[in-house]
Amino acid sequence: MSSSSFFHLALLCCLLSVSSAKTGRPSRPKGIIFPVSKDPSTLQYTTEIKQRTPLVPVKLTIDLGGQFLWTDCEKGYTTSTYSPARCKSTSCSLAKSGNCLTECYSRARPGCTNNTCTLFPDNAIASAATTGTLGSDVISVQSAFGGARVTISQFPFVCGSTSLLDKLSSGVTGMAGLGRTNVSLPSQFSNAFNLKRKFGVCLSSTSSNGGYTFRKFRLFNCTTYLYTTSH
Ligand SMILES: *[C@@H]1O[C@H](CO)[C@@H](O)[C@H](O)[C@H]1NC(C)=O
Ligand SMILES: *[C@@H]1O[C@H](CO)[C@@H](O)[C@H](O)[C@H]1NC(C)=O
Ligand SMILES: *[C@@H]1O[C@H](CO)[C@@H](O)[C@H](O)[C@H]1NC(C)=O
Repeated sequence: MSSSSFFHLALLCCLLSVSSAKTGRPSRPKGIIFPVSKDPSTLQYTTEIKQRTPLVPVKLTIDLGGQFLWTDCEKGYTTSTYSPARCKSTSCSLAKSGNCLTECYSRARPGCTNNTCTLFPDNAIASAATTGTLGSDVISVQSAFGGARVTISQFPFVCGSTSLLDKLSSGVTGMAGLGRTNVSLPSQFSNAFNLKRKFGVCLSSTSSNGGYTFRKFRLFNCTTYLYTTSH
């Protein structure tokens, strides 16, 4: 048996065990899968999530070493479900934030709330960083292995500013940090759904949907995905 058909078989078995484990037990996803595309003009890899209430698509540049998800909250951030992280709360310590914005003197909005802990959202592409407050909002993502979309009602992220979007791809309003922190995207999805702390990234070198590396395999054809999984 060639190694590729062996892998096919292994994948099939794993899919079968997932679907049988699923029967009678709804909801908890076995993995989360994200679309990834390469912007041909900036060469940045971007992904898209849905966030806020009502849910809107939010395009983010992927930052493999980034500490957390941050978005521009200064412009166009509309939601009815934002909640700031109060100084010294559990979310602040999980995010290792020891700093507190006690009072914000502009109009109250996500990113300007009193008694909120702060972090330093950064954009490595423009070598820029600012202070931003930690908060949470609804997020919705696609579960892997044919599962449904799943929603987390209080997903921690940091509010950045419009100026921090400098040099990011067109339409991008923040960055998705995949680094080794407890508030990076992979950690948060593992925690929320009790998945193994394991994730993979398939970054195609082209922006087309060529899918050359693992093209035989339905889930790993590199057109391209970022996923976190229980396998
Ligand atoms: C923060 O508290 C100060 C003092 O009570 C108040 O003047 C200010 O409007 C508050 N800021 C926000 C954004 O609520
Ligand atoms: C994440 O949190 C766990 C448990 O709270 C802690 O043991 C661990 O050191 C933290 N990891 C990082 C990278 O902060
Ligand atoms: C790769 O996967 C995507 C999503 O499952 C699919 O739409 C596309 O046709 C696949 N491409 C190839 C070359 O198999």
